[in-house]
Amino acid sequence: MFKYNPYIPILQKTLFLFETVNCYDLIFQEIKTMDCSAESIELIEGDCLEKIQECPDAFYQCCITSPPYWGMRSYGEVQRKGEIGNEEELEEYIHKIVCVFQEIRRVLKKDGCLWLNMGDGYTSGNRKTRAMDKKNPARAMSKRPPTPKGLKPKDLIGFPWRIAFALQADGWYLRSDVIWEKPNAQPESVKDRPTRSHEYLFLLTKSKKYYYDWESIQEIGVSGTMRNRRSVWRIPTKPFRGRHFATFPEELVRLCLQASTIKGSRVIDPFCGSGTVGKVCQDLHRSFLGIEIHPEYVELAEKRIKGS
Ligand SMILES: C[S@@+](CC[C@H](N)C(=O)[O-])C[C@H]1O[C@@H](n2cnc3c(N)ncnc32)[C@H](O)[C@@H]1O
Repeated sequence: MFKYNPYIPILQKTLFLFETVNCYDLIFQEIKTMDCSAESIELIEGDCLEKIQECPDAFYQCCITSPPYWGMRSYGEVQRKGEIGNEEELEEYIHKIVCVFQEIRRVLKKDGCLWLNMGDGYTSGNRKTRAMDKKNPARAMSKRPPTPKGLKPKDLIGFPWRIAFALQADGWYLRSDVIWEKPNAQPESVKDRPTRSHEYLFLLTKSKKYYYDWESIQEIGVSGTMRNRRSVWRIPTKPFRGRHFATFPEELVRLCLQASTIKGSRVIDPFCGSGTVGKVCQDLHRSFLGIEIHPEYVELAEKRIKGS
């Protein structure tokens, strides 16, 4: 007998789908069984907050993602309804991020986790515009948001931690901060503080107990023996020859996937960009759903994943 499958509306709207077995068979098979042995890669264009609402509860093992940082970058040629990152107020930005991750928590399995990448930024110092990035004219947002209440010009905003605490208050278990050290970070012209060369990666979980395979991501310790991976990950950024910028290095995604998923697990990235998480999922035989608001990036991610 036909049973309503909440995943089907998503499939119907899927722009790009390829898999190793018939898709509907796979979905029914997946709904019935806990583990799946075939992987699918899907990309959906749209506002992630709306699209995740169409996903079933407790379906994904892991979310790996990097939302747009507040007031930093314009991604598309035109601003899209629902696009995150250009809010006037910092509180509004944090509220939207919390709402997206509330939905992510709902769609994660009980033992699932979220790897959330966030970089920090400074208040505008009362400057209202931002100089154009000569190397990448589309990169920097032309206007700067006003200095948030309680902060001063030139203050470090600390929004990775503001978001981490907001998510913790909303019910997530905040399990670890990882410093992603970028040995090849962009130089800055500043002379009154150190040049920033790191971002954060937060490990957040839905439950107190969760799947984490520490052995699969061990590192070599000072004595030459293997040890539990430490919380500073030194990974160079990799330039990507597409139009997108702020892409994840594949190595970073690989570590998250190995620690938090097994072959066949389902992974979601609601801010998919150029599709790095999808590409690594394909390489490591995980199923993937990516949501991206700008059609040009959906196309880019599709070409990138297909070409790999
Ligand atoms: C930091 S980038 C992600 C880069 C990605 N990790 C990669 O490796 O390419 C953030 C992306 O979120 C997208 N975005 C912004 N608001 C969105 C929304 N409401 N729904 C879906 N995507 C959104 C932007 O267009 C941008 O491509």
